[in-house]
Amino acid sequence: MITKFNHVAIAVNDLKKATKLYKNVLGGKVSDVFNYPNHGVSVSFVDLGNTKIELMEPYGKDSPIEKFLKKNINGGIHHICIEVDDIYETRDHLIKHNISVLGDGEPKLGAHNKPVLFLHPKNFFGTLIELEQE
Ligand code: CO
Repeated sequence: MITKFNHVAIAVNDLKKATKLYKNVLGGKVSDVFNYPNHGVSVSFVDLGNTKIELMEPYGKDSPIEKFLKKNINGGIHHICIEVDDIYETRDHLIKHNISVLGDGEPKLGAHNKPVLFLHPKNFFGTLIELEQE
């Protein structure tokens, strides 16, 4: 089941502006920008040693975070990511507990090229949870 905290993801309207702020003003270790056409996002990670901040901007049309940014016009915390030891075992266990797994329920390769799943916020007190297998 769950093991470590991996990252918190913040949706932003302007990734360039966001990475500059974290890098130049906060002095953070900010990665290059990666585009994920399959996920509809461009992301950059702020490495904080014990954890990361994932800054995400919509990429292409029909980005899954487009709607979120319409509701949260200044941007906002979009999801948290928790590591699990076995993503398939965890998924089957959660389904037994009536937790809704988003999409078709099959883990997809996430931003770190590791399998991820998203759990419906209605089951977790309004928080979208990403599970990532290490
Ligand atoms: Co994430």
